[in-house]
Amino acid sequence: METKTSMGIGNAIDRVEGHLKVTGKAKYSSEFQIENKVYAQAITSTIAKGEIISVDTSEAEKQKGVLAIITYKNAEKLKTSDKKLPVLDVDSIQPVLQSPNIHYYGEYIGLVVAETFEQAQYAARLVKFEYKKETPKINFKNHREDAYRPKEESDYSRGNVEEGLAEADVKLEMTYNTPIEHHHPMELHAIIATWENGKVKAYASQQMIDNAAKTIAKTFQISKENVRVISPYVGGGFGSKLAAKQHVILAIMAAKKVGRPIQLTVTRNQMFTNTNLRQYNEQKMRIGAKKNGTLTALSHETLSHTSTYEEFQESCGAVTKMLYKVPNNLVTHRLVPTNLQTPFAMRAPGEATGSFALECAMDELAWKLKMDPIDFRIKNDTQTDLSNDKPFSSRLLKECLRIGAEKFGWKERNMEPATKTNGNWLIGYGVSGASRGAPYQKTSSKVILERKNQTVYATIQMDATDIGTGSYTIIAQTASEYLKIPVEQINVELGDSLFPVTPGSGGSWGAASFANGARMACLNAIKELKKKLNVGENEEISVEKLLTDNKLDKFEAEGTAEPSEEFEKHSVYSFGANFCEVWVDKDTGMYRIKKMVNVGACGKILNPKTSFGQIIGGLTMGAGMALAEQTRVEPNFGNFITRSFADYHVPVNLDMANIEVIFLPEEDKIANAMGVKGVGELGITSVAASIANAIFNATGKRMRDLPITPEKLI
Ligand code: MOS
Repeated sequence: METKTSMGIGNAIDRVEGHLKVTGKAKYSSEFQIENKVYAQAITSTIAKGEIISVDTSEAEKQKGVLAIITYKNAEKLKTSDKKLPVLDVDSIQPVLQSPNIHYYGEYIGLVVAETFEQAQYAARLVKFEYKKETPKINFKNHREDAYRPKEESDYSRGNVEEGLAEADVKLEMTYNTPIEHHHPMELHAIIATWENGKVKAYASQQMIDNAAKTIAKTFQISKENVRVISPYVGGGFGSKLAAKQHVILAIMAAKKVGRPIQLTVTRNQMFTNTNLRQYNEQKMRIGAKKNGTLTALSHETLSHTSTYEEFQESCGAVTKMLYKVPNNLVTHRLVPTNLQTPFAMRAPGEATGSFALECAMDELAWKLKMDPIDFRIKNDTQTDLSNDKPFSSRLLKECLRIGAEKFGWKERNMEPATKTNGNWLIGYGVSGASRGAPYQKTSSKVILERKNQTVYATIQMDATDIGTGSYTIIAQTASEYLKIPVEQINVELGDSLFPVTPGSGGSWGAASFANGARMACLNAIKELKKKLNVGENEEISVEKLLTDNKLDKFEAEGTAEPSEEFEKHSVYSFGANFCEVWVDKDTGMYRIKKMVNVGACGKILNPKTSFGQIIGGLTMGAGMALAEQTRVEPNFGNFITRSFADYHVPVNLDMANIEVIFLPEEDKIANAMGVKGVGELGITSVAASIANAIFNATGKRMRDLPITPEKLI
């Protein structure tokens, strides 16, 4: 992609923090050089259910450099929940080491603090625990009788699905399985914590600064004003860093006890057990249509698992409620408590997994109807969200499908499976539709203008984070657009709880929220400067002249953007379509993704380069879902068998295809003043379905259980 450095939004400029990253100057959480800092190593349980009956720290305590050993016996008392299954949220309390009870394999049971990392690691191995073991519940499918309706995800229905199915000329019932997955950002979860005079300072790799501060404050029962969280750079999160997890609390607890800054890094192995996971979903779909392709019924029932101490439910049915025009619709979610850690949001939580079931089911029914799957989707398109009767703020799903078909060369597809070949290869084409909510949220920001030698420099501050998505860059571009000064004169400062509050990075609301927040600060600055001069609001005057005429060298302003009434009156989503070509080897079942085309309608694109990066990342993660990713659990002991990158497989460059990404020109002014919608989570949504549908077209085999490993194809 062409690189330009320029003014304003919409240009594919390079990341403004790029040089800091490639020269190692961008500091990640564990890289801050804090004087006097010491190291902690967490100890985790080796049973999945039971109780600790004895702890022996004598050997560990004797080791050189050891400063403290914390277990439930001597840990500080923290806020714990009085509810049996509190709903896990981004600002929930995170009590740790509060009792001898074990809820899952790998649960934190102790922490060793020592002068060096190696000393802490070594001593941690010498702490001995004895347990009273109980039989854990591991596989939710063996405990269906325990399933209950979660608090957060109420059931939904419209019309009557049974009647709708009775009316259908063609109907199908299928069950789709998606396995446990893990987020695994490149940067490990890490924290350096200090506790001084009742105040916490935490350099912590977090997606949401304000919520991390809330979690810390609530768990230690101190005021949020006494908590400072700093996270200028985050090496990926994918949802695992939305909430401050227990390691954050452990490190702060240790800092308080030892009186020195504590560095705690969660190991890659511990990132399987202690920083959440994407839950295993069993999704039962029932779908029916008239001969002409009109949908009459759609039912989506999800069974999944939560932990025995907290509740979390992915909204697999969320996309099924609103994507197509179907009068009879049923969505349910049920959970079985098991002895695994609490699942949590992973990139497009609900949509990524739910769209696999929905978009495969749509393909299966289209095939039964002998209809082209694109025509079938377009026939059932709707401009109203039938789940709440609100109009969509904008919805270009049909256009995404049509333009994608054109670019991809869909007309070369054979309807009949296993008829297009090249030597030993079976060639298949697949398609899927996608939608992801674009929930922009209240965001505040501060602008500091400084005039030096007739040049204006601006600093934008907010507690937003850049999790690799490009926040720094699009905020700089937004400030450039509204202050009308070059990006080079703008400095963006993020990731500090001293800055104005934002919703942080998550749920695909980052770019829209941060940009609109920065815009308001800039507009307010100009407005206030004009007001001081009694200049009309619409008069064109440069910021430099405004400062000069006001005889000011420095000026600060704040601004807040939040969803409008119009936003509330609409359903606001990004839409997209995925196209994929796969080649499957007839004999070995090995397959290659040859080509992917992704068309997105995601509002105004602030920076085509960073947005393109988001979609490529989403497609790669979607390909990972289809091809390889799964966390296997030992069914009796409850430990994960996949516990490193040697056995948890993610796609590499060679697994990926030629990728074409197209953004349809769109400005959704109902979504927000700048017309920006989310990109990051749309990118993964329905990708796995397009691959499974292409595999059916290639082979005639329906793959309903992810990942689709080659042995399933022979
Ligand atoms: Mo996202 S799963 O809200 O980081």
